[in-house]
Amino acid sequence: MTTKKTDKDYSIYFQPPSLSDAKKRGKEDIAVHYNFDIPEDMRSIGENKFYLIQTYGCQMNEHDTETIKGLLEQMGYRATEDRQQADVILLNTCAVRENAEDKVFGELGHLSHLKREKPSLILGVCGCMSQEESVVNRIMKKHPFVDLIFGTHNIHRLPHLVKEAMFSKEMVIEVWSKEGDIIENLPKKREGIKAWVNIMYGCDKFCTYCIVPYTRGKERSRRPEDVIAEVRDLARQGFKEIMLLGQNVNAYGKDFEDRKYGLGDLMDEVRKIDIPRVRFTTSHPRDFDDRLIEVLAKKGNLMEHIHLPVQSGNNEILKRMSRKYTREHYLELVRKIRQAIPDAVLTTDIIVGFPGETDEQFEDTISLVKEVEYDSAFTFIYSPREGTPAADMEDNVPYKVKQERLVRLNDTLNVYSKRNNERLMGQTIEVLVESESKYNPEVLAGRSRTNKLVHFEGPKELIGTFVKVKVTETPTFYIKGDWVREAVTH
Ligand code: SAH
Ligand code: SF4
Ligand code: F3S
Repeated sequence: MTTKKTDKDYSIYFQPPSLSDAKKRGKEDIAVHYNFDIPEDMRSIGENKFYLIQTYGCQMNEHDTETIKGLLEQMGYRATEDRQQADVILLNTCAVRENAEDKVFGELGHLSHLKREKPSLILGVCGCMSQEESVVNRIMKKHPFVDLIFGTHNIHRLPHLVKEAMFSKEMVIEVWSKEGDIIENLPKKREGIKAWVNIMYGCDKFCTYCIVPYTRGKERSRRPEDVIAEVRDLARQGFKEIMLLGQNVNAYGKDFEDRKYGLGDLMDEVRKIDIPRVRFTTSHPRDFDDRLIEVLAKKGNLMEHIHLPVQSGNNEILKRMSRKYTREHYLELVRKIRQAIPDAVLTTDIIVGFPGETDEQFEDTISLVKEVEYDSAFTFIYSPREGTPAADMEDNVPYKVKQERLVRLNDTLNVYSKRNNERLMGQTIEVLVESESKYNPEVLAGRSRTNKLVHFEGPKELIGTFVKVKVTETPTFYIKGDWVREAVTH
């Protein structure tokens, strides 16, 4: 731990991150704590005050934001959408690609004005970017008006850190490079009808392009009984869908020493809980085992949608990415899934322009897409991340070529998205109605079991319920249909 002299004393609140420490994976056991509580003297700090949190990045971050909101509300703060009204503004950041980081730095520029107008405002940066040394150094140099920086491992310390930031003249920085323990009973402010549930934290895969294993620490699984208790509680509260979350969700249980228990076993138990829909993300092809396929094939509340990032269709690139599977292994996995669950919808993540990727290697990705016929995909141009092995690999592919590859890849993917949607024409599908459509309040938006976006006309009262919709139109990115007035039991 590094300390710096402040105007008060040596403070523990100057603890910057270290990427090299973050890389080290210890064998030490992860302790689980069940006794989290906010000290009495911090429970009224936020009375008559407001907070606003802007979240970037993945569902893990969205879910962390729910915890942060829960903590702030237990301190007396209330939510606001109005920046002028906010007494605490936090940016919960993502480090996965450069453009994600650029957005945050841009936002800090805007917020500097607000801070000048209202010096009592506490402006904080948290999430994955805070775990990077270069980011913390840049904020200290270029954005010295930031009051607080904390990381992904010490969210539960927020009450102490907010209190310190209120009284300190210096920037309060507390980032733990190595993961902490699992804290079970943190408050969470969930909204809507869908709930996220963490089943594990961290990632040990170290794909050579990826920053996540550094920002999120080593793989730690929550105890099955804790996950199940949380899901049961969410079912009792009336949530309609839960999403089990992990960076590498099917490595679940690998770190248990006292039992052999994996994601398949967990899903088999969650299946029996009375919650209408259960999903999980994100799977790593290497850890997707037969037990999981067997359990998913039982269906019921387990949805027939599997997000299975492939990243590339070329073995040499997969090797240099350190993905730990081959194209053949991936395709065999797809075959097994389709055999067990014929109507399974597969989606994926793909990176183009990895350092040194040749035209031929990129063509292998195109041919894999044609073979798997994905329903949709998230596609990215490779973005070098400081401190990762790929950032040091020679890259002779011009950016323009990478952009062209991205366009070609997306065009290819769209052919199959459209074709797969067209197959649904005339069918009646079950939809969980989520909201009014963003573009037209007459239209409702929901999701099919396979997670496809469905639009149809119907009364607002249907929001939060399950309905049947007959598919009438199939544009590439969503489905249109007619509400079938027929009861759905859930
Ligand atoms: N844990 C998940 C998701 C990680 S981040 C998984 O393993 O699939 C989500 C996606 O971002 C990745 O699947 C990958 O396609 C992309 N990604 C990660 N690092 C990237 C980088 N440096 N440049 C471009 N895309 C990246
Ligand atoms: Fe990143 Fe790979 Fe881990 Fe996914 S599995 S989070 S891509 S290191
Ligand atoms: Fe981004 Fe961190 Fe998620 S880097 S993708 S917010 S784990």
